This record gives sequence, structure tokens and C-alpha cells, in this order.
Amino acid sequence: EDQLKGRDMLTLLDYSSEEIAYLLHKAIIMKKDAQAGKMPPILPGKTLGMIFEKHSTRTRISFEVGMTQLGGHPMFMNAKDLQIGRGESIYDTGNVLSEYLDGVMIRAKSHETVQELAKHSSIPIINGLTDLFHPCQALADLLTMIEVKGSVAGKKLAYVGDGNNVAHSLVIGAANMGMHVAVATPVGFEFNKDLFRMAQKIAKANGGSVMQTNNPVEAVENADAIYTDVWTSMGQEEEAALRLEAFKEFQINDKLVSHAKNDYMFLHCLPAHREEEVTASIIDGPNSYVFQQAGNRLHAQKAVLAALL
Ligand code: CP
Ligand code: NVA
Repeated sequence: EDQLKGRDMLTLLDYSSEEIAYLLHKAIIMKKDAQAGKMPPILPGKTLGMIFEKHSTRTRISFEVGMTQLGGHPMFMNAKDLQIGRGESIYDTGNVLSEYLDGVMIRAKSHETVQELAKHSSIPIINGLTDLFHPCQALADLLTMIEVKGSVAGKKLAYVGDGNNVAHSLVIGAANMGMHVAVATPVGFEFNKDLFRMAQKIAKANGGSVMQTNNPVEAVENADAIYTDVWTSMGQEEEAALRLEAFKEFQINDKLVSHAKNDYMFLHCLPAHREEEVTASIIDGPNSYVFQQAGNRLHAQKAVLAALL
């Protein structure tokens, strides 16, 4: 607990397996307590600033509700409305926000923006999605797999689709938990090379493994969990047509999931595009846990807020 207080959460790479396991354990306990009506106000008088350079439904609302349930106060800020939107430096912004706030959650276009803000702030900075990472999402994903499968070490996770921010954090998180991860992407849309090597090392140290392929069937073979995300992320809209073509063999549909275990679970960070990356038969079918997963954003982030703030 003590070693987490005051820390930033820019990427799960900055956290040990034990620290990630601790946060997940804390989330499970806090979720049970909340469901039993126990919501101790452990962050009274604390304010979390939330800066958004991009759209959001889940991240914004789960952080607002989470902070409220913890007895603190969430403050939404559209980056365009702040002076940074008119060119004020991140250096000045970070120093100034540190005078008022107890923590900042930021969703930024570039990961460097978040690193820069963390460097110039004395308060915890939490990454709410960048071009490279989405660590809070990965914690909710792991929490959901633990709830459904009991434990995740040794289980097989298949990520099929774009080697993007969500994939990076998911695979790093799963590697820390000792899962066997298979990533299937089209040629040219692979996982970041350095991050892939790091994830492999982490997995190995925890009794798991990470492999990469351009064949979705190979990835999904015997999987306990299948995960996908949109083919076109926020900010890539002009590539949408090209991506639709490049990813068409990577759709999660009835035929593809027939290669997974019978009781496989389907996960998606949402928002989703039905009949693009996943058919309605799968995302709205009996093996889908996407709404429990979205709900777990709240519980995982409450654990993060409680530990860091
Ligand atoms: N999964 C996720 O981060 O959703 P939002 O973009 O709605 O926050
Ligand atoms: N990869 C998606 C995730 C949205 C939550 C994006 O960056 O738009």
C-alpha cells in the first residue's frame, strides 16, 4: 500500500506483478463491499482533475462515479477549454494543477503529453488512454477474467485485431499475471516491437508466454478468452477504409470462435462496431462479458485511486 501512494500510472510497465496483483485484489474487495452497500469515504476533500483531449463514455463516467463513491470530488476538463488549448505549456499547467488538485487523470492523443505532465506535476498522474497505452482498461480486463475464470495464470488469452493501445496494455497486464497470450494482427498492424519484447520477458518471468502471428485461427486455438478492439481507433479516421480491408479476415465471428475452448469468454473494451471487428452473434451472445468488463472499469479504478491518492 505504502509503496503505491503518490505514484503515477502511465503504463503497467512501471508496476511489478505483485503491485498489479495487489491492485486487482483490492478491486475485488472494494467491489464486494460496494455491492454490500459499504462505500467508506476514504478520500474526503480530495479532488481528481480529469483532462480529455478525446471522446469518452466509460473512462469519464467510471472515474467520476468512482471518485464520488470514495468521498472525493471529480472535475471534468475538456483540454480545448483549458489554456493548454491555447498553447500554455505542459510545464506551467502541471505545476499549477499540482497546487489545486490531488491527482489528474488524463486522456491524451500522444503518450509524450502524459509523460511530460507527470514530469512537471507533484501529484499522481493517471493515464486514461494515449496512443500507446490504456492501463486502467487492462486492469478491468484482468479483473473480469479473474472473476469469470477464477484465476488467470496459465490460461490462454487471444488478442485478435489491431496492435494498438488497448492491446499493448492488455498483453503487458496478462504477461504479468502469467497468462499465455497470442496476438494476431494483419501484416503491418503488429504490436509495437519493443513492447512485444518487454511483454515476452515479463511473461517468461511469471510462467507465461507471448507469441505473435498473422493468423487469427492460430491465436484463437484453444483460447480461454478472446479479445478484440476497433480496427480504427480515435484519430485514425482517415485510414478507416484501408483498415476495413486489411482487417477483414480478423473479425471475431462464429467460425473463428469455434477454434476456442467451448467456455471461452469474449471481451472488448468498447465502443464496438457490430459486424466489423465482431459479429452481433458473439458480442451479444452467451460467451460475452463486455458489460461486466465495462462495469469493472469503476471497481479497478477505485482501487487505483484509493492506492495512489
Ligand atoms: N473503453 C474505453 O476507454 O471507453 P471510453 O472511450 O468510452 O472511455
Ligand atoms: N483503441 C481505441 C480504444 C478506445 C477505448 C481507441 O484508441 O480509440
